[in-house]
Amino acid sequence: MKEIVPPSPPPLVHNQFESVRELFSQNVVPSYGRFDLVFSHGAGSYLFDVAGKRYLDLGAGIAVCCLGHAHPAITEALVEQSKKLIHVSNLYFTEPQGRLAAELVKRIGAGKCFFANSGAEANEGLFKLARKFGHAEGRFEILTATNSFHGRTLAGIAATGQDKVKKGFEPATPGFRHIPFNDLAAARNAISPATIAIMMEGVQGEGGVTPATPEYLLGLRTLCDEKKLLLFLDGVQCGHYRTGRFQSFQRILENVPCGEKFLPDGVSMAKSLGGGFPIGAFWVRAPYADLLGPGTHASTFGGTPLACAVALKVLEVIERERLDEQARKLGEWFKRELERLAATYPQVVKRGRGLGFILGLELVEKEKIPAFAKSDKSAALQFVNRLHEIGVLTIPAGTQIVRLLPPLNLKPQEAGEGISKIEEVIKSLA
Ligand SMILES: Cc1ncc(COP(=O)(O)O)c(C=O)c1O
Repeated sequence: MKEIVPPSPPPLVHNQFESVRELFSQNVVPSYGRFDLVFSHGAGSYLFDVAGKRYLDLGAGIAVCCLGHAHPAITEALVEQSKKLIHVSNLYFTEPQGRLAAELVKRIGAGKCFFANSGAEANEGLFKLARKFGHAEGRFEILTATNSFHGRTLAGIAATGQDKVKKGFEPATPGFRHIPFNDLAAARNAISPATIAIMMEGVQGEGGVTPATPEYLLGLRTLCDEKKLLLFLDGVQCGHYRTGRFQSFQRILENVPCGEKFLPDGVSMAKSLGGGFPIGAFWVRAPYADLLGPGTHASTFGGTPLACAVALKVLEVIERERLDEQARKLGEWFKRELERLAATYPQVVKRGRGLGFILGLELVEKEKIPAFAKSDKSAALQFVNRLHEIGVLTIPAGTQIVRLLPPLNLKPQEAGEGISKIEEVIKSLA
């Protein structure tokens, strides 16, 4: 007779970590380098992994969750709007899309908006706008910066000034060239008869948290006017009040003579715009706002009533709670603290970088930190991993920069907790 083997009892602790990892390794395209963390839920500035461990989230989904996690106003907007209307196609009009466009125009300047679903798609729309603008004259080339990041579509990687995103995907989409960031003379010298636009981030994010200088932005405006080029600013990461003003150029140019008059010709947005709900958009300045006429550009999901209702709610909360001021003030405190850490532990930290709530801790070269020197992982990656161990989430940028992109409603005591844990890791390395 066949022996009946009783099934083994369920484990006392269900190992969700391993089972989720297994689901990914079997079924999800491995295009991301993921950390060994599996999250189940969040609340405010904190995330919880499947084992119940709490993490202070200073990355906010890479500058996405601007109101933190599970914000009741976002939940309410999602529930209320979804009871009415989630989606109709762009063959029709809906009020939330019109109202959101009006709010963005109010915050940037006279112009119009197009809605998409991501940053790459927002930039793609601006690239098409530039091509349309230059088509009759045969001009099509767009200049972007070395170290920039503009998305992972084929045009996005062609626009991005980093070789690592292009490798293996050649031939590149034609019509993009890179120039050194914050170097006006280089921009002037690079312009060819085919050039039609220049696109820059107000603060380079993926490239390592480098703000554009006021002189550069003003100089690019003059140059673009002189050469009849469009000036685009990619505000996907640095926009949406992260620097203390709606767009980073507004913050960079405040208190600069003529700064408040500055306007680019196009601005791309995504990330924080929906506070975690996917939405992207571009704004285009009034003279060019009707270039993309009916039938020239479209996105099925662009500007759904649901996405726009959430984005409107996010703007309302930021305004009501003065989170722009919060990001500015707490961001200044953070920056001073990062600089203090650099001054106290020069053997580990080179400097603090950034503006408002787009910040970077620049580490010294890996070889100079004995605990990091032997690993083949970058210093930034190893530092981020050490922070995970003590419950803090940050984002590496390049090999030496640890980015802080906290939710705009981060509380002062949470900022304090973040800095003291960062200092704890630095001390252990010093
Ligand atoms: C400046 C900038 N532009 C564009 C993008 C692409 O956005 P998405 O990932 O939503 O396509 C990113 C994403 O990190 C970004 O930082």
